Amino acid sequence: MSRRDPRRRSEIICRCNNVSRETLEDAIAQGGCQTLNEIFDATSAGVGPCGGSCRRKIGPLMEHFLKTGEFPEKIVEDLRGKENP
Ligand code: FES
Repeated sequence: MSRRDPRRRSEIICRCNNVSRETLEDAIAQGGCQTLNEIFDATSAGVGPCGGSCRRKIGPLMEHFLKTGEFPEKIVEDLRGKENP
């Protein structure tokens, strides 16, 4: 799937607040978010009632982009525990 693949972009990453991968990618690539806190503020992802389980995906998604300038095809979840924003 390419970066513009609509199936990938429409994937819901934050189920609590119904935030799609597209919204997150746009906040990072166009909105300039470089920290989890900036993403929380810009999209409302990661701050839902579950306590932020989606941060395991948001963190790696953002880090991959900041390192490579591209988003990964598949998000490898960070299972080391909750990130401290
Ligand atoms: S799934 Fe994102 S805060 Fe619960």
